[in-house]
Parts: sequence; structure tokens; C-alpha cells
Amino acid sequence: MKVLIITGSPHKNGTTACLAEQFIKGAEEAGHEIFRFDAANKEVHPCIACEKCHGGTPVCVFKDDMQELNPHLIEADVIALVSPIYYYDINAQLKAVIDRFYANDAVLHGNKKAVLMVAMADDSMESAEGALASFKGMTKYLEWDIAGTVVGVNCMTPEMIKNTDYPEQAYQLGKSL
Ligand SMILES: Cc1cc2nc3c(=O)[nH]c(=O)nc-3n(C[C@H](O)[C@H](O)[C@H](O)COP(=O)(O)O)c2cc1C
Repeated sequence: MKVLIITGSPHKNGTTACLAEQFIKGAEEAGHEIFRFDAANKEVHPCIACEKCHGGTPVCVFKDDMQELNPHLIEADVIALVSPIYYYDINAQLKAVIDRFYANDAVLHGNKKAVLMVAMADDSMESAEGALASFKGMTKYLEWDIAGTVVGVNCMTPEMIKNTDYPEQAYQLGKSL
């Protein structure tokens, strides 16, 4: 299967990068083809709802790094979203990419699996409820099956997450696709 991973964190070696790497390791071992898009290192303009992508000649007005991502997004069998929790939700870098799905909305419905992996400083699941709720709503709308989620609590730093079993959960999730 073709597996697309979209990360949001600006930290190359942060907590969620650790989850992404372990997930990729598992998915590669299971024989899947991986494409990784690190949104924080890319140029992705926020959607301005101009609706040009839903007009007569449907095309996005922004010629940025979504042009690199879009073919992978359309072809992917699995889409894994990976983000730190910022103020009780996924971060802006990842959200900007998701909002730009709008330009391909018609062809994205159905036939995909989705994964969400997040990490955060708080030691309560409550801080991830916003991210989990929007992931659930979005996958329902897009008719994607949820393959799994990993929620890393009490993970302020990479050192903290490495002492938990969240990296193992991410690895097993990648392997189980
Ligand atoms: C702007 C900002 C907002 C944050 N908001 C929250 C929050 O609402 N809840 C929480 O538990 N941690 C919060 N954190 C902590 C991060 O989620 C946590 O450090 C995470 O592990 C960072 O992931 P990364 O290393 O992959 O970037 C916030 C961090 C930043 C920079």
C-alpha cells in the first residue's frame, strides 16, 4: 500500500518525529511504500476560501508545496497525520495542509485508511480531545476508515517519549496496516 505521512512539528527530532519514525519503520517492514511530507519545512499557504478550486476550471490559486503533495494525497491508501498538541488541537502547520485538501475534496472521498498520532506535555487525555474529535469528524466526512491512533501524554520532550511505549505503539500501528 501507499502510505502518506504528514507531520506538523517544526522539531526535526521532537516527540512526534519519534512517533513518525517508528510508524514508518513498522510500515516499511510490512512492505509498504512511504512518502513523508513535513509541513513545517514546506511552503503551504492557508486556504483563503476563494472557491476557485470549485469553479469552472477547478484549480488552487496557490502554487506552493501542495503541488508536490497532491499526487501522493490522491494516490495514498493510508494517510497518517502526526502533530504536537498546541492549545488542545493539532498545530497550524498540519491544519494548513488539511484545509488545502479542499482543492481535491471530490476525489479524496472513500477508499483510504487514516491514522492520527499526537504527543503533548499534559498528563491527561483531555488535551487531545479536540484533535481526536476533528479527526473523527473529518474521517467520517471523507469516508476514510480509522486504522488507529496514538496519543502520547506526558511527553513534553523527546527524552520523555522515549521512556514510554508510545514509540512501540506507533511501530506496531505502522506494521499492522
Ligand atoms: C505553542 C504550543 C502550544 C502547546 N500547547 C499544548 C497543550 O495545549 N497541551 C499540552 O499538553 N501540551 C502543549 N504543548 C506542548 C507540546 O505539545 C509538546 O511539547 C510536544 O511534545 C511537542 O511535540 P514535538 O516535539 O514533536 O514538536 C504546546 C507547545 C507549544 C509550543
